[in-house]
Amino acid sequence: MSNATEDLPGLPQLSGPDADVYRHVLGHYPTGVAVITGIVDGAPVGLAMNSFTSVSMHPPLVLFCPARSSTTWPLLQRAPAICINVLSAGQESVSRQFALKDADRFAGLEWTPGRNGAPLLSDALGWLECVVTAEQPAGDHSVVIAEIEQLGVHADISEPLVFFRGRYHRGLPPLDDTDRP
Ligand SMILES: Cc1cc2nc3c(=O)[nH]c(=O)nc-3n(C[C@H](O)[C@H](O)[C@H](O)COP(=O)(O)O)c2cc1C
Repeated sequence: MSNATEDLPGLPQLSGPDADVYRHVLGHYPTGVAVITGIVDGAPVGLAMNSFTSVSMHPPLVLFCPARSSTTWPLLQRAPAICINVLSAGQESVSRQFALKDADRFAGLEWTPGRNGAPLLSDALGWLECVVTAEQPAGDHSVVIAEIEQLGVHADISEPLVFFRGRYHRGLPPLDDTDRP
């Protein structure tokens, strides 16, 4: 990957290694924030991820990308099932908590076991109970494919937590009144 920003008018001049350019440009793609949970050796385990997206309807598949450096993902790999909790706008502190090192990430949080046993975080916008079906190494991360077994949304919570340019935002209002994508 080359650092070609000097040649393009209108783009910020970025000095430093290409990793900074990568983070800067990819950070302009807004995402939600998901917390992936499971039960390992009887205890709840989880971590925050924004590399979550839909993949396939038939069968129903999603993906997310754990870092090879993650110490939590190797634990979650041992969970028989996982839950992907889609965070709501009021859960910025939950996102931060699930990225903390050497902390009880579930401290002070309410959760209930889903049908597959994995923790459903209270006040999340939605949840997907899944089983991991494949994992492919991809550079310093891996791509994990998970099949959805149960899913739902909380009808009384509507705003997502949004991550954009390294900061948290509330879900944005629609541009118009139609439901068309
Ligand atoms: C908004 C946000 C998005 C994140 N996205 C990812 C991600 O996609 N993949 C990943 O491995 N870690 C991601 N992290 C970092 C993890 O939550 C966690 O900090 C990291 O895994 C280090 O902790 P661990 O060693 O316990 O895994 C994200 C953190 C935040 C706050």
